[in-house]
Amino acid sequence: METLQEQEKVISIPRIGDKAPEFLAVTTQGPVNFPADYNGKWVILFSHPADFTPVCTSEFITFASLENKFAKANCQLIGLSIDGIYSHIAWLRTIKDKIKFKGMKNIEVKFPLIEDISMEIAKKYGMIQPGESKTQAVRAVFFIDPKGIVRALIYYPLSLGRNFDELYRALIAMQTSDKFGVATPADWNPGDDVIISPAGSCGVAEERMTSKNGITCEDWFFCTKKLEKDAILKEIIQN
Ligand code: BEZ
Repeated sequence: METLQEQEKVISIPRIGDKAPEFLAVTTQGPVNFPADYNGKWVILFSHPADFTPVCTSEFITFASLENKFAKANCQLIGLSIDGIYSHIAWLRTIKDKIKFKGMKNIEVKFPLIEDISMEIAKKYGMIQPGESKTQAVRAVFFIDPKGIVRALIYYPLSLGRNFDELYRALIAMQTSDKFGVATPADWNPGDDVIISPAGSCGVAEERMTSKNGITCEDWFFCTKKLEKDAILKEIIQN
């Protein structure tokens, strides 16, 4: 019988703004000391329920085909499931040798895939959600910034494959906010107008409404400005 403390450990989830929990792991690309090994990089740490399952396979093919795109945005991908290293190796070999998905084939997964048979890491990251499964990780996605801080998290149930355009959009949006000191509105993509910080005083509110300065205000609290896609790409994307 699990103690209450043990049960709470299972469901504790790192929050936005928290330091990413540390761990040492065995992976398909060798040992990893997390997050220290990735200092200076963004990381997407994600879990999947199990090797040799179809939704996960479609996700791995998609993620691996986008690995370079994420790398150009200074972002390392790292996967995890409650499987052992030999299962991981066999599955990744099968994906490369046999599986085709949406025209993608011969896809080699080069990013690390963590073995977590003990569930120790999955529990630290709240990836085991007992209502969904006590033995398989849900599809969790943690965005961790270059200082090792959790910046965003998204959770999906076992049956739902992730949208990788959205993961990339979220990464670029957060990097844009950091570099340009702006926020990004609903469904934002590079090239769309960005939101400038709300007026913090009556004087600034008045100024926003009266002077233009390249700013467009719907009202004093809702002001946007242009931010060219090229300016973002120049700052964020490495060629
Ligand atoms: C899948 O990846 O296909 C899957 C894994 C666990 C439960 C349901 C689907």
